[in-house]
Amino acid sequence: MSSQREQSIRRVSAPEITTRKGGEPVVCLTAYTAPMAEMLDAHCDLLLVGDSVGMVLHGLPDTVGVTLDMMILHGQAVMRGARRAMVVVDMPFGSYESSPEQAFANASRVLKETGCQAIKLESGPMIAETVAFLVRRGIPVMGHVGLRPQAVNVDGAFKAKGKTEDERLRVLAEAEATADAGAFAVVVEGVAEGLAREITEAIHVPTIGIGASAACDGQILVTDDMLGMFDWTPRFVRRYADLKGEIGSAVGAWAADVRARRFPGEAETYWSKRPVGG
Ligand code: KIV
Repeated sequence: MSSQREQSIRRVSAPEITTRKGGEPVVCLTAYTAPMAEMLDAHCDLLLVGDSVGMVLHGLPDTVGVTLDMMILHGQAVMRGARRAMVVVDMPFGSYESSPEQAFANASRVLKETGCQAIKLESGPMIAETVAFLVRRGIPVMGHVGLRPQAVNVDGAFKAKGKTEDERLRVLAEAEATADAGAFAVVVEGVAEGLAREITEAIHVPTIGIGASAACDGQILVTDDMLGMFDWTPRFVRRYADLKGEIGSAVGAWAADVRARRFPGEAETYWSKRPVGG
């Protein structure tokens, strides 16, 4: 009988993702629930339980209000649905910035309570020390540079990065520091093609782009965006479905059937075997 460890070994691992640098593109999507993880698993190398869950599923205005408990709950759900893809859980705002020790206490809780393979954190200034601290203690880390959604209150809005020379140098330095500190991959969000190419050439681990051109080693999107679950999608997203429209049509048809007493019909009704009163 195979052990749990042997079964989980079939999953894509952090070192495997790292070896994809410059090779076959790394395919990643966000997932927050077990059924969605099950549907995405066969197609993706990596599923990210992103803190975007706060905006996508919980109706929050940004990711700042997301808690560690929310991430753990969704991480557990995704681990139940995904069998092969590597599962990475985002560290939410406030759970890792104050010290490497705080980051280790919270990240180890995420790994223990979800069974996921790695965590992701937004790699602002000073974060390299934390990345190295976690990796040395057995926690694979994915970095995140460029547009950092958790910094929305400092930036004032979700703004693309690298437009000025200062900013370009800062994003490049953050990516290099994150990779040198031992991150197995780095998400690059919201930067122009030139900077994405520069980062990808400068660091030895895969860059995973979101709104960061085809110059990256892999791509990630918020699944609900590419499936058309919202009226508005960012310019860098290509919609592959119109699920919001499909759901609206399906629910509208069902509601009309209920109102017209066409649902439930004979086929959707349990019939008793014995004649009534028999
Ligand atoms: O939270 C998230 O979904 C993310 C991706 C956009 C990379 O960080």
